Amino acid sequence: MARTKIAVIGGGQIGGNLALYAAQRELGDVVIYDLPAKEGPVAGKALDIAAQLPVEGRDAVLRGASRIEDIAGAAVVIVTAGAARTPGMTRADLLAVNLKVIAGTAAGVRAHAPEAFCIIVTNPLDAMVYAFQKFAGLPHARVCGMAGVLDSARFRAFIALELGVSVRDVSALVLGGHGPTMVPLSRLATVGGVPVAELIAPERLRAIEERTRAAGTEIVKLYGSGSAYYSPAMSAIAMAESCIKDQKRVLPVAAHCRGEYGIDGLYVGVPAVIGAGGVERILQVALTAEERDALAATVGAVRQSVREVERSGPGA
Ligand code: 2OP
Repeated sequence: MARTKIAVIGGGQIGGNLALYAAQRELGDVVIYDLPAKEGPVAGKALDIAAQLPVEGRDAVLRGASRIEDIAGAAVVIVTAGAARTPGMTRADLLAVNLKVIAGTAAGVRAHAPEAFCIIVTNPLDAMVYAFQKFAGLPHARVCGMAGVLDSARFRAFIALELGVSVRDVSALVLGGHGPTMVPLSRLATVGGVPVAELIAPERLRAIEERTRAAGTEIVKLYGSGSAYYSPAMSAIAMAESCIKDQKRVLPVAAHCRGEYGIDGLYVGVPAVIGAGGVERILQVALTAEERDALAATVGAVRQSVREVERSGPGA
């Protein structure tokens, strides 16, 4: 049986690390697509990654591509194309320019890889995943956004740092939009089964929640010339791997809600079972009144960004 084909659309920092991680995990063969102007650097990344595989004895065929038809037959498509934030920008500031990129990308995927499971990374994520599905016309189960895995990983990392424990034993979930209104669910977070509320003082927990919300911006400020790429790439790879290997992992992803959590017709970050069928089902958790209010606020922010997409008209 031929190896799975993974198409990475956007050969920048996130795209390059996506290709690296996919190859190192032997998830399949990887084509990194970008515009003709980037043909050299993208081919270089493919070659550089291929050359490091023998060191650990991993097999994957990688290549750069500048014709969208080269993604043909991909089982998984990960979309990172578009501009990244620079210091002082919000993710929403990227909407107009990235909507055009997503419209073109969606048309290419619809034409050449209509059976793929699509993971959208491009910001503003909540709007871009909605727009991609709208323009590509793929089933909602095969389109989702990468955000919750990243935000939850940051939340878990900060909790582990606070307590000096292994990240392996920190379980935590962030719900909602990929922005300042995201909802870190501290009440449900545990360390080796112990609720974090029994281990971390409330004011410290609030500070960790706030750092989680602002972690993307913190990195943009530190880098000074773009946004995070190692952690977004690794987060998207976890989603891709769960689909490719039909792992049925329960991951927080921007999934199309049809009534879950009282949300209808929007892509919002919720815990979902990711398997060969893509987003196979959404898991619901009972929320407190305070958590429901916070979720309503973040859904409002998502709805607002989707309104911007609708206002931009068909095909952006
Ligand atoms: C982040 O939060 C790039 O939005 C991504 O770092």
